Order: sequence, then C-alpha cells, then structure tokens
Amino acid sequence: MASDGYHESLNRLTKDARNMHRAIVSLKEELEAIDWYQERADACSDRLLKDVLLQYRNEEIEHATAVMEWIRRHDGHFDAMMRAYQLMLTEQPITGVEKGTGTSGSAPCPPRGSASAARGSDRVDGACAERVAPSC
Ligand SMILES: [Fe+2]
Repeated sequence: MASDGYHESLNRLTKDARNMHRAIVSLKEELEAIDWYQERADACSDRLLKDVLLQYRNEEIEHATAVMEWIRRHDGHFDAMMRAYQLMLTEQPITGVEKGTGTSGSAPCPPRGSASAARGSDRVDGACAERVAPSC
C-alpha cells in the first residue's frame, strides 16, 4: 500500500527522501493521535477511563519523540536547529532563541520536575503560560 501525500513522482525521489516522507507522515499521525487522546481525556467524566486515555496519549508522545529523533539523525538541518533551540534539553525561552538573545526579562519557567512544569508550563512570547494539558 502506497503512502499518500507525495508531491512528486516516486521514481524521481531518492530512497532518503521517501524515508523522510515516511517519518514526517508518521510524526503527523502521532501528533494527531496525541490530540485525539488529549481531547477525549479532557472531555471524559470517568476518572479511570480518563487515566487510560492519558496513558495512551503519553505513549503517542513517546512515539512522536522517537520519530523526531530519527528525523534529527537523518537530516543535518533538523539536527542543527534542534541543537540551536535545545528544545528538549533546556527551559530556555523559545522566542529568545529565535531572536538570538537566549533570555528575556520575565521570570524563568519552572524547572523540570516542579509542580508547575508537571502541569505543562511553557513560555509563550517571553512569559510563562499554562497549557491546558493535565499533568501526566
Ligand atoms: Fe503511536
């Protein structure tokens, strides 16, 4: 079964381009699954089912992260950008990295493992903002 979504004829694409397409399509599917489980858990009124759905969401996050790592290892620019932003390694403000400053004037995000971090705190435009995702 062929994958949909190619924009060029398959016979014009290298093996590496086809594999990257597979990875990108897989990442899209994993991210979509994360959203589905998040929404279902958020709307669910049964505590046990909510926990099951959140467990599934977390498994999809693991899958998405593994695909992102494969992409990083197979594309030099992804590798360079992930290293520049250090998104998985620090709590630096995202917008600060983009502007080349690495910092902003507002309070830092909570360290990983803190109660605020467990609730899904992240920086948005130089300020910490709470995502609606429940703790996991
Ligand atoms: Fe998955």
